[in-house]
Amino acid sequence: SNLRDKLFEINKEAAGYFYVALRKGNDSSGMEYLSKRNLSEDTLKKFGLGFAPKNSKELYNYLKSKSYSDEDLSKSGLFNHSETNGFYNKFWNRVIFPIMNVNNKVIGFGGRVMGQGEPKYLNSPETEIFDKSRNLYGLNIARTSRKNYFILCEGYMDVISLHQAGVDNALASLGTAFTSGQAELIKRYKKDVLISYDNDNAGIKATIRAISILRNAGLSPKVINLAPYKDPDEFIKGLGLEEFENRIQNARNGFLFEIDQLKKEYNLEDPAEKTLFYNEIAKKLVGFSEELERNNYIEAVAREFMIEYESLRNLVNRLGLSY
Ligand code: CTP
Ligand code: MN
Ligand code: MN
Ligand code: MN
Ligand code: MN
Repeated sequence: SNLRDKLFEINKEAAGYFYVALRKGNDSSGMEYLSKRNLSEDTLKKFGLGFAPKNSKELYNYLKSKSYSDEDLSKSGLFNHSETNGFYNKFWNRVIFPIMNVNNKVIGFGGRVMGQGEPKYLNSPETEIFDKSRNLYGLNIARTSRKNYFILCEGYMDVISLHQAGVDNALASLGTAFTSGQAELIKRYKKDVLISYDNDNAGIKATIRAISILRNAGLSPKVINLAPYKDPDEFIKGLGLEEFENRIQNARNGFLFEIDQLKKEYNLEDPAEKTLFYNEIAKKLVGFSEELERNNYIEAVAREFMIEYESLRNLVNRLGLSY
C-alpha cells in the first residue's frame, strides 16, 4: 500500500542519515564504540551500521525537508512526540543497527547505548512494516549462504561478529522470544538450524522454547555449546573460527540437550529422584509418534544417560499405551 511504501522510504532515508552521522558527524563516540568492538569498516558497511547523535531534532528536520508528512513520520516509529517539543528522536546517542527484511528493505532499527545504560537496546516499535515475530535479523544476508543450515543467535552483535569472522549463515531472533513465524521463515530457506543462544539461564530457557517451536515446524534443531563463553560474539573473539566450527560439528541434538537440562534438576544419587527423572524422560520419549524415531531416541538416551535399554523401552511403551 501507499503507507507501507512511504514507511520503507522514510526508513531508508533515516538509515542513510544514521550512516552518515556515524562517519561525518562531529560526535565520533559511535565510531569509537564500534571500533572497540572490533568491527571493520567492511562490516559496518555490510550491515549498514550508523549513529544517532544527541541532537534530538536533526533527523526530524531532515525528513521534513524531504516533505514527509507528520502523520507518516509518526507511523514510522522513529519519533516520540510531546505537546511542548513536537517530534523528537526516539533513538538518541546510540549506535544504530538497521533491521532489514529478506528483500534488503529497512523495516526498523535497534539502537545500543555505548557502554553501560538502560535499556541496553532500544528497538523500533511494531509498525505497518515491522513485525518482530515475522522477521529474523541477518536473514537477508544469511539466506545467500551456500550452507544448508542457519546459525540462530540472540542478538545483533552475535550475527555481525560471526559474519565478520566468516560464518556467513548466522541470523538472530532479536532477543529470546522465538516464534513459529520465525520457524516458518527458517524453513523456507534452509533445512536445518543450529541454535546458538547465550550460555546463561535466560538463553538456555529460550533455547528449550525455540527447540520445541522448531520441532513443531518440522525441523530438527541442534544446540551449539559456547562454554566457557557467554555468547557467539564473545566466543568467536576468544577462540576463533576454527573452534567455532568444531562446536558446529559437535552440536548437541535438541532433544538430548533438553534431557541434559532436565538432568540438572535431579539428584541422581537418590533412587526416588532418579526414578522421577527416568519417568520424565519416558514421558518425553512418548512424544515421538514414529516408532523408528522413538526407538532411535530410546537407544540414544539409554546409552548417554546410562539407563538400561530394556527398562527404558518398557517404561516408554507402558506410558504410551496409557495415553
Ligand atoms: N535485546 C533487546 N533489548 C534489551 C536487551 C536485549 O532488544 N534491553 C535484544 C537485542 O536484540 C540483543 C539481544 O536481545 O542483541 C540479546 O541480548 P543480550 O544478550 O543482552 O545482548 P548482546 O546481544 O550480547 O549485546 P552486547 O554484546 O552488545 O552486550
Ligand atoms: Mn542474552
Ligand atoms: Mn542479557
Ligand atoms: Mn554480547
Ligand atoms: Mn548476549
